Amino acid sequence: MKNADFEGMVETSDEWIVQRTGIRQRHVAADDETTASLGEAAARAALGSAGMTPADIDLIILATSTPNNTFPATAVEIQNRLGMHHGFAFDMQAVCSGFVYAVATADLYIRGGLAKRVLVIGSETFSRILDWSDRSTCVLFGDGAGALVLEAEDGAGVITDRGVLAASLRSDGAHKDKLFVDGGPSTTGTVGHLRMEGREVFKHAVGMITDVIEATFGEAGITAQDLDWFVPHQANKRIIDASAKKLGIAEQKVVVTVDLHGNTSAASVPLALSVAVADGRIKKGDLVLLEAMGGGFTWGAVLLRW
Ligand code: ACO
Repeated sequence: MKNADFEGMVETSDEWIVQRTGIRQRHVAADDETTASLGEAAARAALGSAGMTPADIDLIILATSTPNNTFPATAVEIQNRLGMHHGFAFDMQAVCSGFVYAVATADLYIRGGLAKRVLVIGSETFSRILDWSDRSTCVLFGDGAGALVLEAEDGAGVITDRGVLAASLRSDGAHKDKLFVDGGPSTTGTVGHLRMEGREVFKHAVGMITDVIEATFGEAGITAQDLDWFVPHQANKRIIDASAKKLGIAEQKVVVTVDLHGNTSAASVPLALSVAVADGRIKKGDLVLLEAMGGGFTWGAVLLRW
């Protein structure tokens, strides 16, 4: 769906959307597509590039805020769609930070010995919770899914190891009213619609993002100059540019795909990763920083060697 497709639906323009957000288009799931079907497709693609089959996986973590049903977890539905009847699967709900939370969690399951190979998926159908008459939110979001596989491997405990090297996660519920969905099973008994005070979110975003990234750099003992790639949550080009500038990350190291798919919440980081891996930018051995911030507020960063 292109920006121009909103003209006639709400009072907006391609020029306003591009200037304020960098978004040029987003994808909307077809009637017969769901968070589970998009997640399954991404899972199969990730397994294909890892040279694995569902039989090799012992844990699926699905980051989503738009599950197929209130329960069971959509991760379990994807497990079944993959023909997997072993291991375990669960959903993780941290809105736009979901994928970063899920990668950090998968790493801990591996380090703790509960899993050897983890399929981490971010899948969302935000089109189903948008108020399509609210121009301040409906132009920003899109549907999509992405996935990666993490596998246990012995390392030396040094910065040249592959896999997750450092992570920092944060949340603060005092900011709930700035970005939330006005429904739910325990309150209204309905699904509800996304509500956001965009200016307020914007005001907090850059400070929170840079703070959690500096903590991650500190934990790993690196600086922005050591990074090969910065793969931020794809919400708004202005937030991405301002964060990279404040951190001293060179523009050519920043992966930006928000123009292609809008804000896909927990799917945005793996979608950006998949583009930069497919076009040859991110290569084996590269030092990659993932970052996200979203509803809650939740925010976090993961430093990994690809
Ligand atoms: N088209 C045209 N005009 C619009 C639209 C639209 N789609 N939406 C809002 N406007 C109007 C507003 O009504 C307002 O008009 P007014 O001045 O007459 O009141 C004017 O544009 C300016 O509105 P602001 O909200 O001040 O615009 P701002 O420059 O802050 O941009 C935006 C709005 C893009 C939402 C920005 O605040 C933003 O990106 N915030 C972060 C939100 C975000 O990315 N959230 C995603 C989830 S959280 C996360 O992932 C980080």
